[in-house]
Amino acid sequence: MCGLTILGTGGYSPPFTLTNQMLEGIVETDDEWIRARTGIAERRIAAADETVLSMALAASRKALAALDRTKIGVVVAATITPDYITPSLSCLLQRGLGLSEDILALDINCACSGFVMAMKIAYALLADMPDRTALILGCEMLSRVTDYTDRSTCVLFGDGAGAAVIRRDPDSAAAFDAGARGNDELLFCEAQYLCNSPFIARPRDAEPSGLKMNGQEVFRFAVETSAESVRRSLSRAGVSVSDVDHFIFHQANRRIIDGIVRKLGADAERCLINIANYGNTSSATCGIALDELFRSGRVKRGDKIVICAFGGGLTYASVYFVQNYEKSEDL
Ligand code: ACO
Repeated sequence: MCGLTILGTGGYSPPFTLTNQMLEGIVETDDEWIRARTGIAERRIAAADETVLSMALAASRKALAALDRTKIGVVVAATITPDYITPSLSCLLQRGLGLSEDILALDINCACSGFVMAMKIAYALLADMPDRTALILGCEMLSRVTDYTDRSTCVLFGDGAGAAVIRRDPDSAAAFDAGARGNDELLFCEAQYLCNSPFIARPRDAEPSGLKMNGQEVFRFAVETSAESVRRSLSRAGVSVSDVDHFIFHQANRRIIDGIVRKLGADAERCLINIANYGNTSSATCGIALDELFRSGRVKRGDKIVICAFGGGLTYASVYFVQNYEKSEDL
């Protein structure tokens, strides 16, 4: 079993902070309800001159700061709110970061599970690229698809980007688990196309529906599948929950994270939780949290890490790996 290790991390959150108090002026809600039901105090919203690419570049540059960019062989970008249908975000990152042309660059749509799925895909693609590394990224501008008249969803979401550079590591172990349960009723956001085709009938007043969700059902799905997914990843690696030094769960709702931790019997002290400051940034939450964890100085060489996420699709994914690299090491 070949491992994987993190060489660099980066996060970006737009400067504008949308507090619960500000939301009280937009929909019928209150700070107390939002904090108690979700754990969210504020979220960041992108400015008019920001794009998914500009946020993705900011996070990626931080992740690559101390690294040799010519070694990047794979870029996997996860987003459900891209600037373009084509070109892909990953191709624009190739240009924006000045990466060499001989890379495999692709975007994936796995909603909130995107960062972990990107890690799995990059890990697999690196198998026949000895000496190369991969840039993985989750980046979302959910404010683009959030319906700010729907109080059950608009209090949850924020914008941001999280990136990491990984390499395969034959000296350690890694294990993944992933799943899909196709469903376009519990959580969906319709595609909006602008075209002048004479062959497509569309109502003239068609409005984008925004992101729609049955919160309670998604809540149940999240707790049930996340804990089981982590158990499967750990069992594949032959380690137990108590062996894990750091857990990162998708930051969708504080109560969901607490539920997963309880179900797993994990030590809550080992979970990084930052949802209060950012809300749910979909595919970006795990990357932003990973960056926060690494910059905190709490990760030591040999530490065992689990990242787990769930989201639209419906999808879920988890990864277990051993961090086998310290910054001082010469690459
Ligand atoms: N402020 C005040 N009251 C509210 C708000 C609000 N913002 N939103 C809902 N309410 C009300 C409801 O109208 C309801 O009132 P009623 O009982 O009079 O009808 C009451 O609060 C309870 O509503 P519930 O929906 O039962 O509240 P719940 O405790 O389930 O919390 C929430 C809702 C926060 C959405 C929760 O279900 C949740 O977090 N679900 C999971 C969401 C998630 O994780 N999504 C991840 C995927 S997102 C992606 O992939 C991009």
